[in-house]
Amino acid sequence: MLEEQRKNKWQTMFIIKYVLLFLLLSRFVASQQEDVGFTYNGFRGVNMSLDCLAQITENGLLMLVNTTLSQVGHAFYPQPICFMNSSSGNVFSFSTTFIFALFSEFATLGGPGIVFVISPSRRFPGALPSSYLGLFNTTNIGYSSNHVVGVELDTFQNTQFNDIDDNHVGIDINGLRSVQAASASYFSDQENRRVNLNLYSGRPMQLWVEYDGTEKQLNVTLAPTTVPAKPTKPLLSFNIDLSRYMVDPMFVGFSSSTSGIKTPQYVLGWSFKINGQAKELCLSQLPKLPRMGPKTRPRIFTIGFPVIGASLVFMSIVIIQFIVARKRKFAEVLEDWELEYGPHRFKYKDLYIATKGFHDKELLGIGGFGKVYKGVLHTSKVEVAVKRVSHDSTQGVREFIAEIISMGKLRHRNIVTLLGYCRRKGELLLVYDFMPNGSLDKFLFDQSTTLSWNQRFQIIKNVASALLYLHEEWEQVVVHRDIKSSNVMLDREMNGRLGDFGLAKLYDHGGDPKTTHVVGTFGYLAPEFATTGKANPSVDVFAFGVFLLEVACGRRPIDPQASEECIELVDWVISIWNSGKILEAVDPKLEMNNEVEEMELVLKLGLLCSQSDPIARPCMRQVVQYLKGEIPQPDLPFLTSENTGEASFWCPYFSRGKTPPSSIAHSLLSGGR
Ligand SMILES: *[C@@H]1O[C@H](CO)[C@@H](O)[C@H](O)[C@H]1NC(C)=O
Ligand SMILES: *[C@@H]1O[C@H](CO)[C@@H](O)[C@H](O)[C@H]1NC(C)=O
Ligand SMILES: *[C@@H]1O[C@H](CO)[C@@H](O)[C@H](O)[C@H]1NC(C)=O
Ligand SMILES: *[C@@H]1O[C@H](CO)[C@@H](O)[C@H](O)[C@H]1NC(C)=O
Ligand SMILES: *[C@@H]1O[C@H](CO)[C@@H](O)[C@H](O)[C@H]1NC(C)=O
Ligand SMILES: *[C@@H]1O[C@H](CO)[C@@H](O)[C@H](O)[C@H]1NC(C)=O
Repeated sequence: MLEEQRKNKWQTMFIIKYVLLFLLLSRFVASQQEDVGFTYNGFRGVNMSLDCLAQITENGLLMLVNTTLSQVGHAFYPQPICFMNSSSGNVFSFSTTFIFALFSEFATLGGPGIVFVISPSRRFPGALPSSYLGLFNTTNIGYSSNHVVGVELDTFQNTQFNDIDDNHVGIDINGLRSVQAASASYFSDQENRRVNLNLYSGRPMQLWVEYDGTEKQLNVTLAPTTVPAKPTKPLLSFNIDLSRYMVDPMFVGFSSSTSGIKTPQYVLGWSFKINGQAKELCLSQLPKLPRMGPKTRPRIFTIGFPVIGASLVFMSIVIIQFIVARKRKFAEVLEDWELEYGPHRFKYKDLYIATKGFHDKELLGIGGFGKVYKGVLHTSKVEVAVKRVSHDSTQGVREFIAEIISMGKLRHRNIVTLLGYCRRKGELLLVYDFMPNGSLDKFLFDQSTTLSWNQRFQIIKNVASALLYLHEEWEQVVVHRDIKSSNVMLDREMNGRLGDFGLAKLYDHGGDPKTTHVVGTFGYLAPEFATTGKANPSVDVFAFGVFLLEVACGRRPIDPQASEECIELVDWVISIWNSGKILEAVDPKLEMNNEVEEMELVLKLGLLCSQSDPIARPCMRQVVQYLKGEIPQPDLPFLTSENTGEASFWCPYFSRGKTPPSSIAHSLLSGGR
């Protein structure tokens, strides 16, 4: 066992030693093959061969030329590089890349530009600035003895050299007449198209020069440094055997010159490799370009600032418009006098959200005064009904709001509670308790549904109780003025609740009823109200009478489709009453059981209340007593259609505008019978 372990250990050691030896050997072989290469992310401390205007700035930028006019500048890698395979005589593959920035004093005029140069010498005595780019002079330009290979970044159109434009990249051999050139652009792999570039924008850009020694192809690729990777398609791709032009050894570097305008030119980083891929430059390590290049200043001021300013202004306008639109959308009207109603005010925005923007799907119904929407309040999750009432002016709004708010203080289990309001220009929104079962008329006149007598009688008692509260039990006398089946809402338990006080008017106990223009619903309107416009509680009693007949008979107060004698419900019931068979008026949908007595009471009470003489009508207190059976059924005389006031029953309170002590009222009632 122990023996075996030792043996295993020895074997492992042997293998490790062998592997290490192999690694060392292979490394040695590799170092033998290693070719010249360097990578400069910035030039601080780098031993470059510089002359004339060329210098390395404090922060490590290679500045080929500064703003001195009509001068040249050269920057070369100091050691000569062997480009030739001596056995085959071919030029090795090589790859280089550098990041540069060309500035110009003027936005539309560039300098001569810069050239990446491979040359047998790093000195160019007698070379000219400007268009000659510090490489040649008039005597030697174009000569094959130059052995110069260059890639120019040319920002000046010189017809002498057949320049295609003032913003191009070209491959130069021994001269400045490019063997191949293209306008500065790059292939955007993202957009799958060529994107034009402005070489002398001062923007840092990257150039790749790659030579394939086997294929004998020279590729030149350009891109702004904002592009994440080298474009897949080169800008220039030229088949050329460089061994025909080059000698050994060669120097690599840059040449530049200035002309009559200030055009500082920089190289930020440079990487070079023989027989391999030049190492990628690290953008984050590159030195910073000067902020105010002679070019950027006018650019910033002439184009940048106005553009930035304009876009700021534009953006502000858009934002302001958005805010204004939003404000307008949710705008409300709030005046000082409304402040006291604070708790009753709703935010329009909340109502807007609650009703899903007053969406048609949330529409509960359309009344005479506006649409009613269902809503769920965002914060409390309370279901509400929101009524949108449009009003054309601010006139009378204050009074109206005041009324609405006092309505909000009405608390009775048979009254739909007004939770609050919201006022907008030309619009008032009233927020009510949500009534899940809708309005009574739907159940009365829809063929599909019906209500039992018990339910109907319950609802009648509910409405009577609500009216008594409005007329006599609350701090003010409230005349509803629009009692009708469609204004009686049904809650979850099918209790009747009086709703829609849109027309209600108030006046203090004992005060004179206000005279207003006639409003109400045709068929429920008391005749004296139609002529005088005075809203007494007796007006409500009249409408309540019609309502009673409506509920008991299951007919609308006015039915134009009915046979002639039945068009007006009240007249029709009177005729049946006079014929002595009152129960024939009862809704045929109802079964006659032991409830006939209640039916008779409701019909008689309906006739009693809907008498044309207001004095002949009972008051709500009496009506409630009748309905509760606290007092015996009324004796109804023979009635005529134009019953103008057999004052068999009356209530002095209505005629005299005084509150009768209940005992007097009672005795009067007893006496009246
Ligand atoms: C820079 O390179 C040149 C050429 O190889 C050499 O003569 C010189 O001493 C170098 N300078 C420094 C500071 O390394
Ligand atoms: C440009 O550089 C040269 C050489 O370094 C220097 O003599 C000259 O003063 C510089 N010109 C400007 C405007 O900086
Ligand atoms: C030089 O060329 C010879 C012959 O073509 C080839 O065998 C050799 O690998 C080349 N050397 C290098 C370093 O590419
Ligand atoms: C042109 O340049 C060559 C090589 O750089 C030089 O020998 C020659 O004297 C120059 N000619 C003139 C006119 O400057
Ligand atoms: C030059 O570009 C062509 C076309 O994109 C490509 O096929 C070739 O491999 C490239 N050569 C070098 C040396 O990058
Ligand atoms: C009344 O509303 C409640 C709650 O929505 C519902 O359960 C009930 O069926 C409704 N009654 C009628 C008669 O529609």
